[in-house]
Amino acid sequence: MSHKIILDTDPGIDDAMAIFFAFQHPDIDVLGLTTVYGNVPVEMAAKNAITLCDLAGKNIPVCKGVGMPWVGPESSYAHFVHGDDGFGNINFPAAKGELDPRSSAQFIVDMARKYPGEITIVAIGPLGNLALALRLEPELPKLVKAVSIMGGAAFVRGNVTPVAEANIWNDAHAAEIVFGASWELNMFGLDVTNACPFSPEFLTQLKENNQKLGGFVHDAAQFYVKFYSQNRDEDVCFFHDAMPIAHLIDPSLFELQTGHGRVSTDPLNRGQTSIALPNTTASPDWLNAELVNVATKVDNERLTKLYLDTYKL
Ligand code: BDR
Ligand code: CA
Repeated sequence: MSHKIILDTDPGIDDAMAIFFAFQHPDIDVLGLTTVYGNVPVEMAAKNAITLCDLAGKNIPVCKGVGMPWVGPESSYAHFVHGDDGFGNINFPAAKGELDPRSSAQFIVDMARKYPGEITIVAIGPLGNLALALRLEPELPKLVKAVSIMGGAAFVRGNVTPVAEANIWNDAHAAEIVFGASWELNMFGLDVTNACPFSPEFLTQLKENNQKLGGFVHDAAQFYVKFYSQNRDEDVCFFHDAMPIAHLIDPSLFELQTGHGRVSTDPLNRGQTSIALPNTTASPDWLNAELVNVATKVDNERLTKLYLDTYKL
């Protein structure tokens, strides 16, 4: 079955891996890339997205989106994870393509109106574009099929603070708006993404399977591996962002649990995603919150095979 998706992204090394994975798989039809600040400033995210499309030979719209959190000052960026260029400092030549003139949020709304009920928005960066799209078109939840995000940490610790994951922490107010909308929301957070470490051998295999796209990910990820391998006995990295796409292709790779989800916006707990599973609270603050499907288990072996096989196609 083919899935029409919009990928909302802040490339980013694991974003690049996820984008190529989506481009490669015959069941995924990427209508466009919408970009957002996060790992890098939004201008760089947009330029990087154009470069990735060019490398993959994909002629699809790339839009620039929000560059600031919903509330508060400009964010800091994750250059220490993704490099000064977002691609692990490999000095990859930037492509010259043009941006679509629409904002990311406007593109999301336009596509949702064009294909009512057909599109899954896959958001793998902070959620400002989605929050803005909800403001532009309050009927958006009725127009899209579902929203799948990489973000949050439901039953595990965070990666920016003890309670918060980077994408949600980066724009907690926007995330609260997205979690508060009445749509099917599927969350792939650190519960599953940190449970699936990838070795340097995986990267070598990815390059062998696809010299151009796998080779790019392999080269860019060397910096990323160094970051993730600090204070560990083995070299590893984590491809967080590809998981919501893998779920669309093969839902049987994951176990999901459904609960009422909330995002904290107070300074200390900023970006905490808390899930009330059924019969765990009588608090109306929770029971009135929207439902979220949270991935809590993943089959690492079959997921790894899916990535490698798809890069080979
Ligand atoms: C998320 O934050 C970014 O660094 C990654 O691209 C991913 O989307 C992981 O916490
Ligand atoms: Ca990302």
